[in-house]
Amino acid sequence: MLKTILVPVDGSEKGFNALKYAVGLSKDCGGKIVVSTVSLPYAFSEAAKEYVSNISDLVTTQIPPKTKSKSGDLITDFSKDRVLMTAKKKLARNKDLVVEYRQIIGDDPAKAIVDQAEAIKADIIVMGNRGMGQFAEILLGSVGNKVISFAKCPVVIVK
Ligand SMILES: Nc1ncnc2c1ncn2[C@@H]1O[C@H](COP(=O)(O)OP(=O)(O)OP(=O)(O)O)[C@@H](O)[C@H]1O
Ligand SMILES: [Mg+2]
Repeated sequence: MLKTILVPVDGSEKGFNALKYAVGLSKDCGGKIVVSTVSLPYAFSEAAKEYVSNISDLVTTQIPPKTKSKSGDLITDFSKDRVLMTAKKKLARNKDLVVEYRQIIGDDPAKAIVDQAEAIKADIIVMGNRGMGQFAEILLGSVGNKVISFAKCPVVIVK
């Protein structure tokens, strides 16, 4: 029986594969899904470049911070975040799932994910083996690698 499944997504296909896997896990083992994305704290971040197609979008992605996490990262309103909106669309058909969406503004995604897992007492983290990074030949990206190393809960890596 799981209570909380943390799924960090970065907009990549692998991240969304992880989300799909987490849905199955939640159906089989229970547990609320917390979908979380970590965005860099400045406008022309790599993340922003990937998802922001025009300048007005860029402005609307600058959302005022709402709360601060334990580690000091800012947690903002997710409503304008493209990665989370895509995740939400992908889960639209799964009516009986309990899902929360969180955007965390921080410059170290792995640290933010590990801290968040502890803060929400995640039973498990489900994430992709690769993300938006360019080096196709490596098996596991740096964020995944660091989360596996530092997370206190089990981590499932989905390919
Ligand atoms: N900014 C982020 N916010 C939330 N989850 C993330 C973020 N970056 C990566 N992840 C999660 O980590 C998984 C692995 O991504 P990772 O960044 O480690 O690989 P990569 O982008 O291919 O490599 P690198 O970032 O080292 O160039 C993703 O599928 C996603 O689940
Ligand atoms: Mg990456």
